[in-house]
Amino acid sequence: MDTKAEPGTNVKIRIEDGIAWVTLNRPEKRNAISPGIVFEMVAAIDQLEMNDDAKVLVITGSGDAFSAGQDLKEYFRIPDAGDPRLRERLHNANAYWQWRRLMYYPKPTIAMVNGWCFGGAFQVLCACDLAVAADDAQFGLSEVNWGIIPAGIVTKSVAMALAQRDALYYILTGDTFDGKRAAEIGLVNFSVPKDELVDKTKALAAKMMDKNPLVLRTAKTAYHRVREMSWDASADYLNAKNDQMIMRDPEKGASKGMKQFLDEKSFKPGLGAYKREE
Ligand code: ACO
Repeated sequence: MDTKAEPGTNVKIRIEDGIAWVTLNRPEKRNAISPGIVFEMVAAIDQLEMNDDAKVLVITGSGDAFSAGQDLKEYFRIPDAGDPRLRERLHNANAYWQWRRLMYYPKPTIAMVNGWCFGGAFQVLCACDLAVAADDAQFGLSEVNWGIIPAGIVTKSVAMALAQRDALYYILTGDTFDGKRAAEIGLVNFSVPKDELVDKTKALAAKMMDKNPLVLRTAKTAYHRVREMSWDASADYLNAKNDQMIMRDPEKGASKGMKQFLDEKSFKPGLGAYKREE
């Protein structure tokens, strides 16, 4: 198992106009998540964190799949029969890229679900900030069909993302559903005809590129943190984080925005982002 893989084979990266397109690239295996994908993704997200040209990450799949979930042979059968230390390393690395890092990633992330999306792929989908699907993409929590529960962190991911009736319906039946249904139950933000998927995803990414990146980073981290906190702890945490962010902000966004609205009358915060360039 090559634990030091560089992106380029199982994961392709292309950076264009501020968007880093990160593509799972095993189309012949429906982008099933193999050790190759795991270790290349670990490297990819670490590299992109430090690359200023990558302002928003879009994770997608090549061919007709987003991802068919964990690779039943290479992620489960072979490692399950091998050295338990290597298996543990693989599972930790998988958790690292699929949700530990992705959920708190310092840049906005979008899952662009172009096709099949099963099992472990839900972890990636739910850990991304936003998600867009093709109308005809097919989703499924298929674990029940082959004798396991949605483990890793899949059940937790869907419990956080979906209402109980929907989560349990799909966990217990393994039924597939399309992009339109995924939008209806809030698993993705919206679905569009496949030929519009890339353009609509670019437009969504562009909305976030207008905004102050430190605010985006702090806002998403705060969202995840307060979900598990009491109301009092949340209020304290949010106010402290906001103060800390204002003090650390290199572009002094809060005072710039206030000046543009109150003094210069050149911007309305209800209608768009303050002017970031001087
Ligand atoms: N693990 C390993 N190999 C896979 C996986 C997977 N999750 N998904 C697809 N493949 C492989 C197939 O074995 C096949 O390999 P082969 O060409 O060597 O025979 C190849 O990818 C193409 O798959 P097909 O089944 O021929 O493709 P098709 O387009 O007809 O069907 C579909 C696509 C519906 C996604 C089907 O492959 C499938 O049901 N895959 C499993 C989906 C699943 O249950 N994933 C959850 C895994 S468990 C988890 O993630 C925790």
